[in-house]
Amino acid sequence: MNKPQRTQVGIIGSGPAGLLLAQLLSRHGIDSVIVERQSRAHVEARIRAGVLEQGTVALLREAGVSQRMEREGLVHEGITLAFAGRRERIDLRKLTGGSTVMIYGQTELTRDLINARLAANGAIHFESPALVVEDYLSEQPRIVYEQNGQQQELHCDFVAGCDGYHGVARQSVSADKLQVFEKLYPFGWLGILADVPPVDHELIYANHERGFALCSMRSPTRSRYYVQCALDDKVENWSDDAFWNELRRRLPAESAAQLISGPRLEMSIAPLRSFVAEPMRVGRLFLAGDAAHIVPPTGAKGLNLAGSDVFYLSRALIAYYGEGRTDLLDRYSATALRRVWKAIRFSWWLTSLMHKFDDDPINHRLQVAELDYVTGSVAGSTALAENYVGLPFEKFE
Ligand code: FAD
Ligand code: PHB
Repeated sequence: MNKPQRTQVGIIGSGPAGLLLAQLLSRHGIDSVIVERQSRAHVEARIRAGVLEQGTVALLREAGVSQRMEREGLVHEGITLAFAGRRERIDLRKLTGGSTVMIYGQTELTRDLINARLAANGAIHFESPALVVEDYLSEQPRIVYEQNGQQQELHCDFVAGCDGYHGVARQSVSADKLQVFEKLYPFGWLGILADVPPVDHELIYANHERGFALCSMRSPTRSRYYVQCALDDKVENWSDDAFWNELRRRLPAESAAQLISGPRLEMSIAPLRSFVAEPMRVGRLFLAGDAAHIVPPTGAKGLNLAGSDVFYLSRALIAYYGEGRTDLLDRYSATALRRVWKAIRFSWWLTSLMHKFDDDPINHRLQVAELDYVTGSVAGSTALAENYVGLPFEKFE
């Protein structure tokens, strides 16, 4: 083993949570090192989220990485719910007193954050998987990781586990210290990315007897579409034509007529899961983002929850290093979890409302009745809108 390195905050994972945390800390002179299992090219190529809440956008501004997003991101003031052959628009801006969302790919955000980190000479060790977090109950936790086939140690004041659902940070904690809540849904999402103009200028979430469909986008010339598929389905089962035909069948006639198809740039299947590990802090190990919780993508909340965790965690660490305070570190888990559980609930509700769970026709009728209510009532559509644009962050100072 080589000589151990030292840093103030050791960060596992260079997804949005780890990169944004490192960036916010560095603006306050707090030193961090990121270890990342994958290569830079792999991290920058992953196609994932597309919808940013206003709180996430504000945090990216605060981190000084918002310039390209402000130029290229698309501000959306509404979404459409399609059901029973109808299209009903939810006016997010009007219903929430001015809030909107920003369409900007997680791929682009990740690139911006990596560029900012490297430009500031911040350390990211790519292709360096963390193996375990040791001594997290002591004042000197360590990340044991591998680099070029050699085992290395990073000694830290604190460890931030930002290594996603399959990472090692959460798994390093002994089982009696974490309580885990999990729900698996009996279907997945088959997604396609294609260089075709989006079918509509806003997102369409469609409930259909054949299953859910979502029309999203990355830019005025690049579309991202999803259809609900069987959990054991495989990308190899789907030709481009089969995908476009299935999507067209699940959209209302006017939208189906507008749909332009084209060759895939990417196609993938994602399972749907709700998952929370409590607490989000054990000793000097702090979990943030997908390492601590997973939501089904229906509410577009995963990346945004990574953002709100990092909002609270960065403030707690800044108060510790700047003023010697430990009270915010102590409040991190309970505060972050209050917002996490509300997003878990919203994502579960929207998933339940929009997907086909079984062949019993009463269930589809009940969904249509609820959609009719939600879109026809100011109270119903306001509840949807304020959750979709993102619930406010708690005061944390
Ligand atoms: P990740 O992005 O998973 O990053 C974790 C990092 O840790 C990765 O780089 C990984 O390689 C690394 N890592 C893992 N193990 C190790 C290890 N042992 N050592 C070192 N590094 C390790 N969210 C939204 O908010 N809006 C959306 O519209 C949306 N749409 C989505 C659509 C799809 C199809 C999917 C799959 C997800 C979507 N999400 C969405 C969710 C969002 O992508 C995630 O919640 C987000 O990536 C979480 O960020 P993170 O940094 O916590 O984790
Ligand atoms: C996406 O564009 O990938 C996307 C948008 C909205 C969602 C989920 C995914 O709810």
